[in-house]
Amino acid sequence: MDVQRVGIVGSGQMGGGIAEVAARSGYEVVLRSRTIEAATATLAGIEKSLAKQVAKGKLDEADQAAIVARITPTAEIDDLFDCDLVIESVVEDITVKKVLFAELDAVCKPGAILATNTSTLSVIELAMQAKRPERVCGIHFFNPATLMSLVEVVRPLTAADETINAAKTFAQRCGKDAVDVKDRAGFIVNALLFPYLNNAARMLDHGTASMEDIDVAMKGGCNFPLGPFQLLDLVGLDTSVAILDALYLEFKDPNFTPVPSLRRMVEAGLLGRKSGRGFYDYRG
Ligand SMILES: NC(=O)c1ccc[n+]([C@@H]2O[C@H](COP(=O)([O-])OP(=O)(O)OC[C@H]3O[C@@H](n4cnc5c(N)ncnc54)[C@H](O)[C@@H]3O)[C@@H](O)[C@H]2O)c1
Repeated sequence: MDVQRVGIVGSGQMGGGIAEVAARSGYEVVLRSRTIEAATATLAGIEKSLAKQVAKGKLDEADQAAIVARITPTAEIDDLFDCDLVIESVVEDITVKKVLFAELDAVCKPGAILATNTSTLSVIELAMQAKRPERVCGIHFFNPATLMSLVEVVRPLTAADETINAAKTFAQRCGKDAVDVKDRAGFIVNALLFPYLNNAARMLDHGTASMEDIDVAMKGGCNFPLGPFQLLDLVGLDTSVAILDALYLEFKDPNFTPVPSLRRMVEAGLLGRKSGRGFYDYRG
């Protein structure tokens, strides 16, 4: 199964990052958003990100232009027809993703792989929306996709070996380390990471220490590159609550119940870096 043309659906922080990584790795990319303005704005963001690489001497200008030229922004779902692999990276909501999978199945050519970048949701539920469940899997990048070296390749019960192998080959050609994981909420990383992040928010609620000191403590004491509140802000608090909800739904472990203050912050629009403010303020 030779993947050459890749569709990315959803142009948020992850969709844009995956589009950049794939185009930089030589793939032709169709970047689909619900509006052409959003898709074009994401492409402009990718150009800016590549310009920083040029300024640092890590990329030359001709390569930058070639990478940008490989990305076609669109608002038309039909433009994904001739993609060999489509990765959806829209909001972490099972209802939205199920509708999208049925649409993708209807427009994508026979044999194309349909993949999800979901952090926690059930991949088999998405696979069963398609008439090609053997061609569906999870390809889970990490944030920021341009920098993080891991991709979890998630195998739902229905996936064919050649689908999983093609997904792993794609991830490796993107310069990533691919790990295999079964279709369980949170896969490997988020199932282990999110109880820790949730408990950091609980510790803050209990007044044990300030968020700044908890961040300093976990960086200095565990050699983590980011503290828990910096990481929650990077992931996005809406996505974090959705991840915890999905983990709780599957495992019923109280450690996965989102701390109430996290949900309140989402309700207040404090989503983290992407909204300008979360635990920290990024507007200055
Ligand atoms: N944020 C992370 O750290 C991270 C890491 C790995 C995977 N993911 C996963 O990637 C996916 C996207 O997350 P993100 O961080 O890019 O979020 P984001 O909020 O930056 O982007 C979400 C995208 O979904 C689109 N969207 C919102 N509602 C929609 C709808 N009803 N129909 C279609 N599109 C809609 C938005 O326009 C936007 O393009 C989620 O499944 C998330 O779990 C996130």
